[in-house]
Amino acid sequence: MPPALAALESRPVWWCKTVDPGFDVAAVPAGVDVRVVLPDLSEFADTRDRLRAAGVPFRAVRHWLEQEEVSTTTATAWLSDVGGVVPERCESVVGEGARAARLAFEMVWDLHEPVPADDVPDPVPVERFVPADWARFLPFPVLNPAQAQAAPHLVDGDSHLLITAPTGAGKTAMGMLAVLKAILHEGRKAAWLVPQRSLTDELDRELEAWRDEGLRVERLSGEYAVDVEAVKAADLWVATTEKFEAICRASSLQAALGEVGCLVVDEIHLLGSPNRGALLEALLARVRGIDSPVRIVGLSATVSNAAEVAEWLEADLVATTWRPSKVTWQLPTIPAASGFTANNRLREQVVIDLTHRHTAEGGSVLVFCGSKRNVRSTAMAIAAERGAPVHTVAPDDIDGLTKACAEVGVRLHYADYEHKHAAERAFRARQADVLVATSTVAAGVNLPARAVIVRDVSIGGEPIDTSTVLQMFGRAGRIGAGETEGWSYLVVDETQRADWQTRLVAGYSVYSRIRDSLPDHVLAEVLQGRIGTMDDAQAWWVETLAHAQGDDDLEPVQEAVTFLVDEGHLTMTGDRLDITELGRLTARMMVSTHTGHRLRRTLGLLPVPHDPDEAENALSLVLSVAVRDLAGIPVPEPVRPAVATVIKAGGKTSQITNTTSVKGLGSQTSTAPGDLAWAALLLAARSPHLFDSPKRRVAGGIPLATLHPVYEQAPRFLAWLAAQGVLGTVHPWIAVVAADLDHRVRWRSLAPGRGAGRLLWMCEEMATRAHLRDVVPDLWRSAVARGVRAPDWPPGRSPAGCVLDHAGYTALLRERTTNHTLAAHADNATVTGGTGATAIAWRGRTWSAPTTSATVAYPPSEDDDATETGVAVFTRRGDYRATGWLDAYTGINTEDTPPPPARTRRGLGR
Ligand SMILES: Nc1ncnc2c1ncn2[C@@H]1O[C@H](COP(=O)(O)OP(=O)(O)OP(=O)(O)O)[C@@H](O)[C@H]1O
Ligand SMILES: [Mg+2]
Repeated sequence: MPPALAALESRPVWWCKTVDPGFDVAAVPAGVDVRVVLPDLSEFADTRDRLRAAGVPFRAVRHWLEQEEVSTTTATAWLSDVGGVVPERCESVVGEGARAARLAFEMVWDLHEPVPADDVPDPVPVERFVPADWARFLPFPVLNPAQAQAAPHLVDGDSHLLITAPTGAGKTAMGMLAVLKAILHEGRKAAWLVPQRSLTDELDRELEAWRDEGLRVERLSGEYAVDVEAVKAADLWVATTEKFEAICRASSLQAALGEVGCLVVDEIHLLGSPNRGALLEALLARVRGIDSPVRIVGLSATVSNAAEVAEWLEADLVATTWRPSKVTWQLPTIPAASGFTANNRLREQVVIDLTHRHTAEGGSVLVFCGSKRNVRSTAMAIAAERGAPVHTVAPDDIDGLTKACAEVGVRLHYADYEHKHAAERAFRARQADVLVATSTVAAGVNLPARAVIVRDVSIGGEPIDTSTVLQMFGRAGRIGAGETEGWSYLVVDETQRADWQTRLVAGYSVYSRIRDSLPDHVLAEVLQGRIGTMDDAQAWWVETLAHAQGDDDLEPVQEAVTFLVDEGHLTMTGDRLDITELGRLTARMMVSTHTGHRLRRTLGLLPVPHDPDEAENALSLVLSVAVRDLAGIPVPEPVRPAVATVIKAGGKTSQITNTTSVKGLGSQTSTAPGDLAWAALLLAARSPHLFDSPKRRVAGGIPLATLHPVYEQAPRFLAWLAAQGVLGTVHPWIAVVAADLDHRVRWRSLAPGRGAGRLLWMCEEMATRAHLRDVVPDLWRSAVARGVRAPDWPPGRSPAGCVLDHAGYTALLRERTTNHTLAAHADNATVTGGTGATAIAWRGRTWSAPTTSATVAYPPSEDDDATETGVAVFTRRGDYRATGWLDAYTGINTEDTPPPPARTRRGLGR
């Protein structure tokens, strides 16, 4: 045994968790610390009497099911007597596993220490902490003990704060106090960051009352641009980290940002999250430190290294311990896998048994599964146990399953499940007492339950991480449901038990993730003027959490800078670093530099396509594969044949017939990463009519809900490629086709056909950023109804509905490529007529530098057989046109797509 462990284990203990009514402690030698945790059931009354008589301390715990013996150096657990499992002895563990077993024992022990009734602190009236006129902004007249502990720090202090509190302890009201201090006391703005867009909605609703009281609360979210004036005027911004960072990177809001005095960061422990942590770290690295003009108030779940994070922020740590309810977690242990099916069945039986135990006494149960398929089978099994006739429901009959389950109080929830919101509502309203869900519900959504059962230790085939389990556990016993006690379970097999016990005892620790995306953050700092030299870059690195956690090697930053220079995002002159236009574009659009690199490199390898079909297919495919967020969207099993069919038909659903569709492969149909995105983009490009009705729920056999994530993410990357046309950093064909696709995907509900991109661009410019959503559809519909195909109409009065003033409209007309005439000759290309556009000529895969002169020479060819030449023009504002087959993108081709019927209220009439 290592000496450190020996020191820790110097005290002889014999701690038992038992579910055996015959349990006895007769044989324990004197001087050993004996303790027992056992069920509070009546059949254990004699056992408890025996323990009392022997002077052995014990805790009687409701719903107790674990059996384990923890001695000084070893721990031995038994399989749990639940779901028909025969309780047998598991293998003993020593070392870390044994130590974790001791800590776990201590946790239940402390949790169930009887509290004398008069020890429970009373709620405190808010007026004790805050000026009387603040009370009307607070949702409760009293503060709970956790809030009362934090309030003086929030209201009287000025330093940064890191407040840790268990789930459900009421951190929202703590954030409110920090915000009110900034707005009402200091006359400054505040920003409140949350990790997910759904949470901005939730918080926005909670702050609705503030609007009635005259505070200007602006929610920054949505796929469209924000209304800059409203944002500038706001007192409080509610935003996701991504959206807030986008604002930090935009030039238009710099002055407003300077007025922000307080930054509330909800769930600040997500600093350690692999996906979103880095961005938050970069943001906090800018404002941390004692002389910062912005006060950080971080609200966090209980994390084991909170002190380390607080030290990095130079924040005061307020670690609250009061919890609104007490949650007992246990690890029901099943035999190690004896095959996939048997293992699944066992887990299901355990879930059914535990669910029954809690619902039988009026509790509600939330079951988390690792896959949608497990959600369905588990819901079905629970429903069957409750007597629902689910065996008559066909495996793919979702509506049938939904109905059968609902009749016995069981609901389902997973990402693309049509009835998920109804399920959430029913569960919250207690019309259902069981909700079986995938992990998607765990993050954030306030769904209280008495018991939480985590059925699987993997999600979508990947091992589940500790923080996710803790987050799921946090749903149990939420006070919101009037509960004061909760139970959480993670079903493990005997080989996993010690490891999970160790992980859960250690809890969630925050570790920096910024190294994975270092170039992105360096670039963002250069954009914002905080890094101008290599020395600055190194000084910035020192401010990060990564550095504070011991990553003090400077090489990663130097490598990041070199990468950015190689990629054309930065230039280095002597010691000076300057951002290029490409760098600015990339940082503003929040495109990851690694993704950008993959996209440009892969596209650069493609031969120049010969027609729009080929071009759209190639671009869609590369985007789907090179952008990780798109490549990673899984194809749900039931829609695999549909996805394969759509790809085979090139997205033209009119060409899908019985003989061309891919059928009968079911779950065997294999799909490659990116296939869903590829199919989605092809559908938008080739079958735009599928998107014209808000009632439609399926396109090409694929539910729109499944396709939706693609349409949310893809436009940003398409727009990034399109904007590079004028910079000459991608081949002109890519910029032109991406521009058209970008607009068509974003406005897919207007069913725009090929070449509609320019007209949509014009409508967007006339609508201005603030009115896109309302004005663009009207302008577009009325233009199309009048036979307008492109923005090439002659100057005159601005159309009805145009938001630009006269001068703005006149300027817009001047900034079109309308008056340019392009001609590709044998040796060079000529551009005549217009002004203000940049021309680029190409031969095969090589293209010339952007120029404003009228004659552009083709570049020398890289490959001998590259004979195809062409020329394109781009304007800074976003218009374009090009020769050859790219002319298809000058205006809407009426043969391809007949114009949709107009639904006009106002429009382009003169
Ligand atoms: N002072 C109070 N009096 C009564 N109810 C309160 C009080 N503070 C909070 N609550 C209620 O407690 C519940 C949990 O509050 P809140 O969502 O703020 O917790 P949280 O700590 O942010 O939890 P999570 O970690 O899940 O985000 C809510 O239903 C809220 O309405
Ligand atoms: Mg919260």
